[in-house]
This record gives sequence, C-alpha cells and structure tokens, in this order.
Amino acid sequence: MRTAVLEGLRADPPAIPPRFFYDTRGSELFEAICRQPEYYLPRAERQILRENAAEIGDWLGDGCVLIEPGAGASVKVRLLLEYARPGAYVPMDIAGDFLRRSAGRLAEEYPWLDIHAACVDFCHALDLPEGLPAGRRVAFFPGSSLGNFEPRDAACFLRGIARMVGPGGGLLIGVDTKKDSDRLNAAYNDCGGVTAAFNLNLLDRINRELGANFDLDQFEHRAFYDEDLGRIEMHLESRREQRVRVAGEPFDFDAGTRIHTECSYKYSPAEFTTLAERAGLRLRRRWQDRECLFAVYYLECDSLKPDGLEFALA
Ligand code: AVI
Repeated sequence: MRTAVLEGLRADPPAIPPRFFYDTRGSELFEAICRQPEYYLPRAERQILRENAAEIGDWLGDGCVLIEPGAGASVKVRLLLEYARPGAYVPMDIAGDFLRRSAGRLAEEYPWLDIHAACVDFCHALDLPEGLPAGRRVAFFPGSSLGNFEPRDAACFLRGIARMVGPGGGLLIGVDTKKDSDRLNAAYNDCGGVTAAFNLNLLDRINRELGANFDLDQFEHRAFYDEDLGRIEMHLESRREQRVRVAGEPFDFDAGTRIHTECSYKYSPAEFTTLAERAGLRLRRRWQDRECLFAVYYLECDSLKPDGLEFALA
C-alpha cells in the first residue's frame, strides 16, 4: 500500500488505486452506500437475482464450488443459496477481519454450507485455498465491481476467471449498464454524503496507516460521468493550496488539484458480451431489471485464453 500510494501521489495527475478504499471502515461505508436511494445498482441487481433465483440456480447446478472474489459481507450470495445449494462457498476478500466476521455469520445462518474463506487481493491473484471439494467451479462477481477495472484489466481479469473455473466452469456476473448521465451522477453524489465519506475515508486510512497528515476538511469529493469514456470518475479535490506529508514525503497541492481515486465503467450488454467472449467466456443467459438499469449475465468457459493471471487494478 505504501509503495502504491506514494507512486500514485507522485504521478501527474495524482491518483490512488481504488482497492485501498476497503479497510474495515471503508467496507462499512460501502455497505452504507448500497442503502442510499440514489445508488440503484444493488437494488436493481437484487431484484434480478430474487426474481430469477430458481433459473439461476439451475444454471449453477447443485454441488458446484461457488467462488466469490471481493465477497465483502456475502450479502448477495444469500439470494442464491436456497436455489443453488453449492457444495462449497469460497468468499475471497482483501479485508481479513471483515471477511472472517462475515464468513462466521454466514456459517451460523447456513450450517450445511461448506465455507472456505480466503483473504486475498483478487486484483493481483485468484489463488484458491487448498482442500476444496471436487465440483464444477462457478465464479460469482456481482455488484458491477468489474467496472472498477480499466477495460484492458477487465479483459485480463475475465481471462483469469476463465482459467480459475476451467473449461465447463461458469461465471455469474452483475454489470452496470450505460444510461443517462443524470441518473449516474446522482448515484455517485448521494444526498446523505455517504459516497463523499467513503471517498474521504481513503485519506483518513492513509493518515492512520502511512503516517500522513491529510486534513479531510481541505479535500472535497467530486464524482461525474464522462460520456465519451463511458465511466464515472471519482476524485478528491484540494480546497486550497496545501502541503501534505505522507510517510515523510512532502506533496504539494494547488487549490483545485484532484487526486483521482476511482473509475466506474458502464457497459452496454453488447459491449460486455464482446469483452467476455474475447476472454473465452460464452454468454449463456442475460437477465435485466424492469427498468433495464443493470444486467446479470451467466457465461461459461469453453476455451482458455493465454495471459489470464497477470493483471492489476490501475
Ligand atoms: C464497488 N463498485 C462497483 C462501486 C462502483 O459503483 O463503482 C464502488 C463505488 N464507488 C462509489 N460508490 C460506489
């Protein structure tokens, strides 16, 4: 984290990789974002998963090994468990304590479920824990987290997933779709200020973990949709000229200088299908919510493409 943050702050324009949002506080704030009325993504996805759970369960098949990179609180998988009845569930997350508590709660609720939690940074590797039972592997990647990868990295990630599940394995993935910019801008600028707090928590985390002295009152949350690039950009904008020290190194910011913290790409169904098929994942089924805000896809791996494991979030 130290190396990545310092390198990012030295860059022009400065940027911090979005994977560092998710310390325990950041993960809690993200869960709170998901409850904001403007942030339609989880609601639309939940509607799709709930209304089509039986059919999705049929595609996954009983006894599969269900692997969820970036599982967080394992909230959405609960919508599948009654219908899919996997042989094992493998939640992967970078936030170890949060993952342990979430897996513990899940184990209490579903005593029949064989859980193998893995504390890994799935942005760098999709290493599965040892001792998994045999069974068709199916990855579950909801929440449009794919949108936080640069498209080139998204393609590499999908190739990595294809390699992890192997030929005959599957991927159930939720992806946000392109839509009018007012709706998108509102989703990343909620009135409750929760997305702003989530963005600013990154600086608070850097203060705590890297010995920095960011004054959170002197940076402002900025988020906007860039229609040409098809992505939401999030930034932290300096309110005034200031000097900040991070791990002993000075960084100067002018008023208005922005630290780029996240991209959230939006894909039309046709764009996503092309991206996935190039990675060796063939579309079998697509579901959408009634307003067509969001899409869930089920794909199967029919061939392995090279270079699937080396990728990193920009
Ligand atoms: C996790 N990811 C899909 C979220 C998104 O919508 O890109 C992260 C997020 N950033 C701000 N709000 C939510």
